[in-house]
Amino acid sequence: MPITEPGEKLQVLIRRAAIEKRVREVAHRITRDFKGQRVHLVGVLKGACIFLSDLVREVNLETSIDFIAVSSYGRRKESSGQVRVLKDLDSSIAGLNVILVEDILDTGLTLNYLLRVLRQRRPKTLRVAALLDKPSRRLKPVKGDYVGFTIPNQFVVGYGLDYAERYRNLKDVCVLQLPFGETAG
Ligand code: IMP
Repeated sequence: MPITEPGEKLQVLIRRAAIEKRVREVAHRITRDFKGQRVHLVGVLKGACIFLSDLVREVNLETSIDFIAVSSYGRRKESSGQVRVLKDLDSSIAGLNVILVEDILDTGLTLNYLLRVLRQRRPKTLRVAALLDKPSRRLKPVKGDYVGFTIPNQFVVGYGLDYAERYRNLKDVCVLQLPFGETAG
């Protein structure tokens, strides 16, 4: 059983076996779409690290990986919407088939910003893979090319997703219920 703080409750939303199966399906689609070519996976730290690790091992192509970190705008996402690069890519993406790998598409502010930044660097193609999608929360009209699961508007943790840096190591994606009065999203 995962260790929780007092008053926090976890409820499994997507089981590890379902995640494993879906990650394999997404990887097979990528393999088919880019047949005979190299793909460069760019993970958005830190949430996407586990999804990227599992995904890249199921892609049957020549691959390379890199990571980028952006500022999170804390728990007041809607009001600020400011995103900044905290850790940039190690190498150029010019001319590459880039797949940006995200943990979750929520308001779309992060992805909207990252797509703008990465497009300026002239990749050959630029696509988006996201494990989870919460389309009901969208503020920017972005969408994933490879989406694992579409979920309702609930705050989830596990498989890379955190609450205050905790719970990234859960093998299932779980809904986090907080003590009365606290909000996560
Ligand atoms: P955005 O709102 O689409 O820009 O999402 C920004 C980031 O917020 C995501 O990459 C996640 O790291 C985080 N996030 C959004 N929804 C959740 C959630 O339900 N659980 C954990 N993190 C989330």
